Amino acid sequence: MLRLEDLHKQFGANLVLRGVDLEIKKGETMVIIGRSGEGKSVLLKCIVNLIEPDQGKVWLDGRDMLQLDGKGRDHLRRRFGFLFQGAALFDSLTVEENVSFGLRRLTDYSEARIREIVKEKLAMVGLKDIERQKPAELSGGMKKRVGLARAIAMNPEVILYDEPTTGLDPIMADAINDLILQMQKKLSVTSIAVTHDMTSAYKIGDRIAMLHEGRIVDVGTPANFKRSKNALVHQFITGSAHGPISLV
Ligand SMILES: Nc1ncnc2c1ncn2[C@@H]1O[C@H](COP(=O)(O)OP(=O)(O)OP(=O)(O)O)[C@@H](O)[C@H]1O
Ligand SMILES: [Mg+2]
Repeated sequence: MLRLEDLHKQFGANLVLRGVDLEIKKGETMVIIGRSGEGKSVLLKCIVNLIEPDQGKVWLDGRDMLQLDGKGRDHLRRRFGFLFQGAALFDSLTVEENVSFGLRRLTDYSEARIREIVKEKLAMVGLKDIERQKPAELSGGMKKRVGLARAIAMNPEVILYDEPTTGLDPIMADAINDLILQMQKKLSVTSIAVTHDMTSAYKIGDRIAMLHEGRIVDVGTPANFKRSKNALVHQFITGSAHGPISLV
């Protein structure tokens, strides 16, 4: 359904993506792991063209998203939900205005219907009665969940999650894992989730891909990853400071 082909991105002399190839099947959850600063967030942003790749293709249902004009891209982008790493809420807007941002801009739903959807999506992420609050009044984990409610507000076909469980307590992290699984099972959503949280990766991932030095160095099921002979994967999933991955 979604295919990344030879994606490259550099910022000045900083070569971040150096030829990423990855295929995501319809309905699967692909987890991307990799060290901090490897380019995981840049990769997600390249997929929806929030960052323009220098080279490569992003195929969605056989069409190269990067070749489309602005209108065509906007149209395809509507099929995506995006949970940003830092939640990226609008500080001056209330929770309700944040969650309904896309609904108000892109649909002609009535005010009552929008309010109902906002309530429903907030309930899905374990929040209620916070519609009138502003992001500054929320805890980090609450902001993340509001960001998630916004990402799923338009019933996207593909959801990109950037660190969905980071900063949440273990119980809420597990609830978010369950929600990601539910979105996949009930709504057949296709997902890419970037995470450092291996508990979450094993639970939600149909397959896991490891990004290292700008390329995908291994892809496999959680079971395969746990048994992987790839020294890079082994070092990462065991969280060891010793191995082929240097600290600087
Ligand atoms: N807009 C930008 N302009 C310049 N450099 C950028 C930009 N965005 C990211 N980078 C650089 O790209 C590299 C990868 O950043 P990215 O945020 O993708 O890392 P990450 O793998 O998501 O890390 P983390 O796990 O800490 O979130 C970093 O060196 C970062 O400084
Ligand atoms: Mg990141």
